[in-house]
Amino acid sequence: MGPDEEREVIDALRSGWITTGPKAKQFEKEFAAYVGARHALAVAHCTGALHLALWALGLGAGDEVITTPFTFTATAEVMGYLGVRPVFVDVDPGTFNISPARVEEALESGRHKRARAILPVHFAGHPCDMDRLLAIARQYDLKIVEDAAHAAGAARHLDGRGMTKIGTIGDLTCFSFYATKNFTSAEGGMITTADDALADKIAVASLHGMNKDAWKRYDKSGSWYYEIHDLGFKYNLSDVHAAIGLAQLRRADGFLRRRTDIAMRYNRAFRECDALQIPYSEAGIEHAWHLYVLRLKPDLLRIGRGQFVEILRERGVGTSVHCIPLHTMHYYQRAYGYHNGEFPVAEDIYERCLSLPIYPSMTDEDVEYVIDTVGSIVRENRR
Ligand SMILES: Cc1ncc(COP(=O)(O)O)c(C=O)c1O
Repeated sequence: MGPDEEREVIDALRSGWITTGPKAKQFEKEFAAYVGARHALAVAHCTGALHLALWALGLGAGDEVITTPFTFTATAEVMGYLGVRPVFVDVDPGTFNISPARVEEALESGRHKRARAILPVHFAGHPCDMDRLLAIARQYDLKIVEDAAHAAGAARHLDGRGMTKIGTIGDLTCFSFYATKNFTSAEGGMITTADDALADKIAVASLHGMNKDAWKRYDKSGSWYYEIHDLGFKYNLSDVHAAIGLAQLRRADGFLRRRTDIAMRYNRAFRECDALQIPYSEAGIEHAWHLYVLRLKPDLLRIGRGQFVEILRERGVGTSVHCIPLHTMHYYQRAYGYHNGEFPVAEDIYERCLSLPIYPSMTDEDVEYVIDTVGSIVRENRR
């Protein structure tokens, strides 16, 4: 947070308009331009974005959505709001993203006749294999809702379209501006789509099902009368949040350059270390580097991931683990009958992974300290 964010927020506060209004509309406009989307709809969080997206597609009780277990709970919890069953399939061991081969396998099994959509997550900011997912969706008449919580600014090469920004590929794409994301509005989210009808439906539903300009009803230009057109939710984004988001969005390219620079430094430092596995990279993608996920090779180390994280913490390096696979969590086991061992690739990644610090204000010295500390822990604990 810097002076630009302060200026925008003070501007919102002094304008007297603090909830959804001109800043939120401006944020939508600038975000749509940033990803090249036809419509961008600002909402309170990505969780709400995902909920609205599935709801707008008309998904309901008994329907199924194919998704990844290697994600944060928000991706699948929203399905529970609608009585939709999350059908987990395993991930690709390189990218950590949903494996198109496993999606096909699930659909070919004939057990998922109620599948209505695929919900890929661009994990850590690495775009999924959208060419293959689009082809599968076409073949089985499924919608695609992308969870791009990690992937604002990411892009991928698509057949016939060249380099294509995330936010312009699936039917609906959901972004997060939660405090830890590549850029933030403290809390916030955005839905992008090229579909006019879906955009209209979501705009209305995100504020109680009121007509689209109901937010203007307190303004001189507005009317006291509003109509309720549809079932609605309270998912609008306030202007105070949008003000932070606007200032951050204008700095997003700089943030992404710095994140990429840090990731490349980590890659150069850890590539040669045989006890470590750096993130997979491939041609034709622009990674958002929301997370830098390093994997340990347990055969070459005397300590496991848990201890590695603990020693890093003792030496002043805060790390985290992304993600704990959903099918291993109590709720998903109880509600849907999933059990440990079902998705071995996701579980193997989870057992061995840790996310190193990566954020734009990290100094070169911070980055060097992380590199040196990881390197010394590996040397001290080699088998
Ligand atoms: C993959 C993924 N999807 C969705 C979300 C939910 O985002 P929000 O906190 O904006 O609701 C998160 C949040 O961390 C996430 O990591």
